[in-house]
Amino acid sequence: MTFSELVKHRRSCRKFTDKPVKEETLRAILSDALTAPSSKNVRSTRFMVVRDPETLQRISEMRDFGSSFVKDAPAAIIVMGDTQATDLWRENCAISATILQLSAEARGLGSCWVHVHGRPRLHDNPEGEQAEKYLAHLLDIPQQLGILCVVALGYPDGEPRPHRERDDSDMIIFKN
Ligand SMILES: Cc1cc2nc3c(=O)[nH]c(=O)nc-3n(C[C@H](O)[C@H](O)[C@H](O)COP(=O)(O)O)c2cc1C
Repeated sequence: MTFSELVKHRRSCRKFTDKPVKEETLRAILSDALTAPSSKNVRSTRFMVVRDPETLQRISEMRDFGSSFVKDAPAAIIVMGDTQATDLWRENCAISATILQLSAEARGLGSCWVHVHGRPRLHDNPEGEQAEKYLAHLLDIPQQLGILCVVALGYPDGEPRPHRERDDSDMIIFKN
């Protein structure tokens, strides 16, 4: 598969088979993600791998919307950033998470980004408890680390839907 075919084949995957993801595969994906560019090369992104079903269940409860499928994933990677190292820790995390998702795709896995930072636990109570605080407490994450997102991953149950054919030409400007 060419790189262009790879990025076009990737879709968010929220349904996984029971096939476990080997530790060596997870390590290879994280090794790819660790090559991500970062502001001033601070390499502020950190990862936590979770495979325990009970912990995955509790992670899935971090929000009452858009995270429930994490309980059925064989693995999830918590993407965190050192907030003391740089004010751009979120940007650095986002690039790492993207490379992580593409590396997973290249290895035949499906994945989905589940947002954490700035998201409330309850959709209808945006000022209430935050998903990030819940996760930090659940996973004993040091205060210095912000949590941008969780990437759920596993072998996809079913084929991803292809991207819709559409005219995106108004999203690109070629400046003369
Ligand atoms: C910043 C960001 C936050 C996202 N948050 C969630 C989320 O909380 N829950 C979820 O199911 N999907 C989430 N997604 C996945 C998007 O819904 C998905 O990427 C988008 O609908 C496009 O579909 P595709 O990934 O299949 O191309 C998120 C994606 C990004 C980039």
